[in-house]
Amino acid sequence: MIEQIKQLLNEVEMLRASNAEEVEALRIKYLGKKGIINALMSDFRTVPADKKKEVGMKLNELKNKVQENISALKEQFDSQDNNYDDLDLTRSAYPIKLGTRHPLSIIKNEIIDIFARMGFNIAEGPEIEDDWHVFSALNFAADHPARDMQDTFFIETDNADVRRNVVLRTHTSSVQCRSMEKTQPPIRIICPGRVYRNEAISYRAHCFFHQVEGLYIDKGVSFTDLKQVLLLFAKEMFGNDTKIRLRPSYFPFTEPSAEMDISCNICGGKGCPFCKHTGWVEILGCGMVHPNVLENNGIDSKVYSGYALGMGIERIANLKYRVNDLRLFSENDIRFLKEFEAAN
Ligand code: DAH
Repeated sequence: MIEQIKQLLNEVEMLRASNAEEVEALRIKYLGKKGIINALMSDFRTVPADKKKEVGMKLNELKNKVQENISALKEQFDSQDNNYDDLDLTRSAYPIKLGTRHPLSIIKNEIIDIFARMGFNIAEGPEIEDDWHVFSALNFAADHPARDMQDTFFIETDNADVRRNVVLRTHTSSVQCRSMEKTQPPIRIICPGRVYRNEAISYRAHCFFHQVEGLYIDKGVSFTDLKQVLLLFAKEMFGNDTKIRLRPSYFPFTEPSAEMDISCNICGGKGCPFCKHTGWVEILGCGMVHPNVLENNGIDSKVYSGYALGMGIERIANLKYRVNDLRLFSENDIRFLKEFEAAN
C-alpha cells in the first residue's frame, strides 16, 4: 500500500487541467465519495498494526497534497473565469465589522458626559503613585488601616524608603491632590481611572477595578450643591424616577461624609434580592472636602470650600447591565463583549 501511495504522490504532483470541468473531474476522481482517497481510507483498516503509523502518515500527506493541488487548479480557473462585464459597480460594499466598546468604557463615557454637561473637566493622574497623594495629603492618619499590606500594593524593592512610599493607587481620590497642587480654585473636575487593591479575585472583588472621582472647589460651595449634583446625576444615569438618599458615613478626606443610595432600579424600590429587600442600593461616597486636605494641597480653607465624590464604575455597570460577576469585565470573552453592541 505504501508503494501505491508514493506513486500517487508523484502523480498528483503533476496534476494538470485546462478548464474548470477538468478540475472537477479530477476532484471526483481523487476526492469524490468513490474516489481514490476514500478507497485507500477503507483499505487502511487492513494494514497491520505495526505499519499503521507509517502508512497513516503517508496517507494523510497524500490527502493534503491532493486537496492543496486541486484547490490551486480550481482557483486558477475561478480567477480566469472572472467576467468583468458582470461586475456590478453599484452594489453596496460588504459591511465592515467594527469592534464594540467595552461595557466599562460605555459607562465611564456616560458618567463623564453627565458631569461634563454640568461644567466638569476631565483630569487624570498616574496609577503608580506615592504615599503622599494616595494617603497623607488626603488626611489619612499614619496608622490608618487602608495603608495596610492587605489593601495596598507596595512596590517591591530592597530599599525600605521606596517600598513604603511607592504604591499602586487604591482610589482615584489621589487625582484630587494632583489637581489642587497644580491649580487654584475654581476647580471642577471628574477623574476616571483604574485603581488597585490587594484582594483575592472572586465574583465580587478584583485586584483592579475602575472609579470616577468628582471634585468641585470654589468660594461658598455647600452641601446643598453636592446634593443637587448627585440628584441630577442619579436621574440622568438611572432614569427620571430615581430617588436618592444620603446616609452619614466616614472618610478621612471629607467632613461631613456621606454614602449615597439610589432607589433600586431593578425593582423600582419595592424590594428584591438585588437590593436585599431594602429598595435601596449604595452607589457612591461623598462629602465636603476636609479643610486639612485643602491646606495639604495649597488651598486656603478659610476662603474656599468644596465637595468630592467617588464611585466604582463596575458597580454602576452592574446596576445598569446586571453583570454580577466582576471577572467578566477583564476576561476579554468576545461573547460577553458582543452583548453590548447595541449600547455602543
Ligand atoms: N475614595 C473612596 C474609595 O475609594 C471613594 C470616595 C468616597 C471618594 C468619598 C470621595 C469621597 O471623593 O468624597 O472608597
